[in-house]
Amino acid sequence: MDTRLTALLGCRYPIIQTAMGWVADARLVAATGNAGGFGFLAGAVMTPDEIERGIADIKSMSDAPFGVNFHMYVPHADEIVDICIRHKVKAVSYSRSPSATTIEKLKAAAIVCIPTVGAKRHAVKAVELGADAIVIQGGEGGGHTGSVATSILLPQVREAIDVPIAAAGGFRDGSGLVAALAMGADGIAMGTRFLLSQESPVPESTKAIYLGTPPEKIVVSTKLDGLPQRMIANAYLDRLIQSSHVGLLARAVLNGLAFSRMTGGSLIATLTGAWKMYRAGDESFGQTLMAANSPMMIQEAMVKGNPENGILPSGQVAGLIQDLPAVEDLIAGIVGEAKARAASVNLTVSGKQSH
Ligand SMILES: Cc1cc2nc3c(=O)[nH]c(=O)nc-3n(C[C@H](O)[C@H](O)[C@H](O)COP(=O)(O)O)c2cc1C
Repeated sequence: MDTRLTALLGCRYPIIQTAMGWVADARLVAATGNAGGFGFLAGAVMTPDEIERGIADIKSMSDAPFGVNFHMYVPHADEIVDICIRHKVKAVSYSRSPSATTIEKLKAAAIVCIPTVGAKRHAVKAVELGADAIVIQGGEGGGHTGSVATSILLPQVREAIDVPIAAAGGFRDGSGLVAALAMGADGIAMGTRFLLSQESPVPESTKAIYLGTPPEKIVVSTKLDGLPQRMIANAYLDRLIQSSHVGLLARAVLNGLAFSRMTGGSLIATLTGAWKMYRAGDESFGQTLMAANSPMMIQEAMVKGNPENGILPSGQVAGLIQDLPAVEDLIAGIVGEAKARAASVNLTVSGKQSH
């Protein structure tokens, strides 16, 4: 199970637990590290103080290396970068890239930079900016997602870049791990599978909805923040889809205010961050302005346990998941199954060759 990814991240197995706002807390990250995987703390919805406390909590529960996820558009992003450096965090992940200068600063501190991308051109750009490895997320993945399926995106990106790749979007077991490795990935990254574990802090009422939803009811919408996002279809999403532009804008402003308060900044600082991000990237200003929408709508289901009054980001893979294992059993099961599957594929291939 040693791959370029395990060597880079210092973990036992090529299995990443991705950051998920309100879900990937210190307990989940520590449990992943203790089981031999590599976890990311969901720093994008935290204040700098909360991130610092989260890092301390992880270290009190585990000696394993771990990472922190953050968004460059939050007003205190530079502070978060300094915290990661000060606490010698092993890796950082992000989906909207920091500047080349920030990446250089992180790399000078020996922090592994591993962004998530949903398109080949973003993977190429991320490597040009200095990424040490890439998580590619196919369209079946949860939360913000692209339009290209994992089975297409992985070979497409593999041919275009040389750094280690973790494949994400649709993974839950050992067969998936073997398939990803066979297609040229150096490991897998999973969100939804870890959300549906014992250590995940998501309220039971919300987990029950995930367990009971078939894949075709896990859909993509741009109504949250203008970017495609995969989530469970529910009455709340229906209401959003029917909202007028004015209604959506009003909601974005209110959520922007609440997000600024929650992450310890001012609305002006958040707007300035959104403007900088808009200038640096290829999204519209409206899209960057609405970026705070998703975390606030997700909170209702993920923290407060009101799945009917909020958004439930999810990969389609939730439609195949029926249990809530402890993270240790989950990872051990994936590794055991991967070894068995790899062996059985070998047998079949050599059997065919002998004819
Ligand atoms: C509930 C939920 C919240 C998420 N929040 C974040 C986030 O804060 N930052 C981020 O980079 N990705 C986020 N994602 C995307 C995941 O990190 C991951 O890339 C995705 O879940 C992989 O696909 P899978 O669900 O099929 O495993 C989120 C996904 C889910 C399901």
